[in-house]
Amino acid sequence: MARPATRYVCQSCGAVAARWLGRCEACGEWNTLLEEAAAAGPQARQSRAPPVGFVSLASESAPEPRTATGMGELDRVLGGGLVPASVVLVGGDPGIGKSTLLLQAAATLARAGRRVLYVSGEESIEQVRLRARRLGLADAPVELAAAIDLNAIAAALERSGAHLVVIDSIQTMWIEAVESAPGTVNQVRASAFELTRQAKSAGFALVLVGHMTKDGAIAGPRVLEHMVDAVLTFEGDRGHQFRILRATKNRFGATDEIGVFEMTDRGLAEVANPSAIFLAERRGNVAGSAVFAGIEGTRPVLLEVQALLAQGAGGTPRRTAIGWDGGRLSMLLAVLEARAGLSLGGADVYLNVAGGLRISEPAADLVVAAAVVSAATGMPTPADMVFFGEVGLSGEIRQVAQAEARLKEAAKLGFTAAALPRRVARGARPLAAPEGLELAGLGHLSDLVARFRKPGRPS
Ligand code: TYD
Ligand code: MG
Repeated sequence: MARPATRYVCQSCGAVAARWLGRCEACGEWNTLLEEAAAAGPQARQSRAPPVGFVSLASESAPEPRTATGMGELDRVLGGGLVPASVVLVGGDPGIGKSTLLLQAAATLARAGRRVLYVSGEESIEQVRLRARRLGLADAPVELAAAIDLNAIAAALERSGAHLVVIDSIQTMWIEAVESAPGTVNQVRASAFELTRQAKSAGFALVLVGHMTKDGAIAGPRVLEHMVDAVLTFEGDRGHQFRILRATKNRFGATDEIGVFEMTDRGLAEVANPSAIFLAERRGNVAGSAVFAGIEGTRPVLLEVQALLAQGAGGTPRRTAIGWDGGRLSMLLAVLEARAGLSLGGADVYLNVAGGLRISEPAADLVVAAAVVSAATGMPTPADMVFFGEVGLSGEIRQVAQAEARLKEAAKLGFTAAALPRRVARGARPLAAPEGLELAGLGHLSDLVARFRKPGRPS
């Protein structure tokens, strides 16, 4: 049987089907199959490469040399800087600031005397220049091109001697031989493959910008995530100024690091002390607010959590969480009612993490409970107290990791008390708590609720 001239490729997972289907059989997504010509991509070319030589596992090789970009927060997430011949994918929602971040990094590196090429497939040269002017980077010797034809770009990169090449974005790249539109799985995969091959052979660090879809996947090609050495996602709420850069994959470093930035009218500013900024707008003595001593990556971060109770219109009460998991909020409210005797009286509950940040640590259970109890009783939490601890289904407060780092950060920012799991406060191993920080060890949620029942301020 002759090979079919066309095939259908799922734009979500990359699965290939021989005929069109309304629903992808591999990933179950609807309406994602697109007709594409069976690719004669770069893979299909005849190999001109020399035969592969094998070496022993034990032989010496120098540690990965790294180039710091000069942007501390970016370097931290990369694991110390860019590794030559590595490929980094920077993903994020459109408009979140990916181009701004990379132009700033490119300019910093170029000013330090490295050769940096920036290829924009989305914006014209004039638009990029305009941004550079706005950022005060117009004098940086970054070499710019506005292009989408990958073969032409590849030819220019071949012997460029570049240190860093930025492709903004991979979804705009186009290879003529691949008969589908830019942004489709075939095009993105083939373009990334060709660029990666070049980065490995020419030794430049390659940064690919990729837009993400609503559900968090980088549009179309999941395949890209496997091909690259590191995946960084740039997150934040467009209505807020804070941006978090997170490594979700890193062959050359840890994946739990974050970089914190603030979007200003002159570009992204690095935030060296996130806690101070996140707490800057906090008003003391307001019921329903509590401060979380959290850990993001290896960094302690203090965040304000706010809860609001409102009498609903009857029926099922609403539970809305912004910056935290909604299911976990429902669970915690159920535990508060069933195990700690807190009555919410069918009120709607709204939870918000101030600053547009997202908490994913279970250690935030206790601070959420504190904010809710405070809102329910109308009694503010002590303004100088931080909270952390995980809550179990029977209402017990469970241990969490890195208590000392959390306490140290709290003390550094002038907090004088911490509510934490009793087993951490009075564990077998003495806790190295900072001087002047009072520890309130809680064993059960009812210990927390009891603090808000005392006459006067809770202590
Ligand atoms: P951009 O880097 O173009 O986003 P992406 O490449 O991820 O699509 O950032 C666009 C947003 O950032 C835009 O809404 C305007 C804002 N911005 C600032 O607030 N200050 C600045 O200095 C710049 C350059 C952009
Ligand atoms: Mg952009």
